[in-house]
Amino acid sequence: MTSTVLVTGGAGYIGSHACKALAEAGYTPVTFDSFVTGWRDAVQFGPLEEGDLRDPARLDEVFAKHKPVAVMHFAALSDVGQSARDPGLYWDNNVIGSLRLIEAMQRASVEHIAFSSTCATYGEQDGVMLDETCPQQPINAYGASKRAVEDLIRNFAAAPGAVLNHVFFRYFNVAGADPDGQVGEFHRPETHLIPLALDAVRGRRDKLTIFGQDYPTPDGTCVRDYVHVTDLIAAHVLGLEYLLKGGASEVFNLGTGRGFSVREVVEAVARVTDEPVPAEDGPRRAGDCAALVSGSRKAADVLGWSPDHSTLEQMISTAWAWHQKPGYRN
Ligand code: UFG
Repeated sequence: MTSTVLVTGGAGYIGSHACKALAEAGYTPVTFDSFVTGWRDAVQFGPLEEGDLRDPARLDEVFAKHKPVAVMHFAALSDVGQSARDPGLYWDNNVIGSLRLIEAMQRASVEHIAFSSTCATYGEQDGVMLDETCPQQPINAYGASKRAVEDLIRNFAAAPGAVLNHVFFRYFNVAGADPDGQVGEFHRPETHLIPLALDAVRGRRDKLTIFGQDYPTPDGTCVRDYVHVTDLIAAHVLGLEYLLKGGASEVFNLGTGRGFSVREVVEAVARVTDEPVPAEDGPRRAGDCAALVSGSRKAADVLGWSPDHSTLEQMISTAWAWHQKPGYRN
């Protein structure tokens, strides 16, 4: 019998790629999703349980039915701008939802969790290559909510008699799509650079606005560390197996250590699509840090992780194939 893993947010961009990778690795991924931001057609690799994490009775039912050996916890709101406008949404959905999930795991004696955290928990630390020991000083409610969930999992794990083995993955900028084209990225509204640039190429929007040209970076635009979603998820499967083999709780940055500016990404989109990217310069976007680049090899050293798909070309070309797929949501 295969082991079951409960995947919260399994109908979302990253969660759906996780379900595919878990199925390929021999697990049964059970998607738990509220469909507030997820997509029904993204659930292809295992059973679906619809529900809201803030509903303890529903969680108890799902844990009793599927008896997962572990949880991968992706379900969260993740729009930084929205979190600045409406912080209560983020504390309620992300933090209270996670609290209810952890409580249900304890009732069901599920001892392992991989949690989707973010480099947004580090906040503004320009010029620093971020590693896992950097102080966490988030500058928006999204980052604050993710840091709070890290704290709550640590607190529960430290309680007398509790067993809650955890890996936290702090993502840099996740991009790209499943190379087989079965799942990909789609947000409504879309706020991310690569899909927006691809939309501009396809004429689905007039042009891309480049937010800020006066940052203290080589070309004045923000620098980010982009990581392919397939590589990101490979780290989660390695992290799960690490926990199941008795590995100690750990936190890992997931980035490649190489930063690209917004202009470099836009140039790469033009190269990969062989089309110009209609773009204009605009003012800075509130809440953006100048540069966020991972300075850690810990995931490579401890988990044996190797982000082999994370060239700009591979990320953009898989996202481009996904955008051009017949049936792509219009
Ligand atoms: N950008 C533009 N124009 C756009 C959209 C984005 O110039 O239309 C720029 C942004 O200003 C930023 C870069 O492109 O400098 C990347 O922006 P994204 O919105 O794609 O990604 P972010 O770096 O803002 O955010 C991502 C995740 C968050 C996570 C954060 C951590 O979406 O969930 O990384 O840095 F918190």
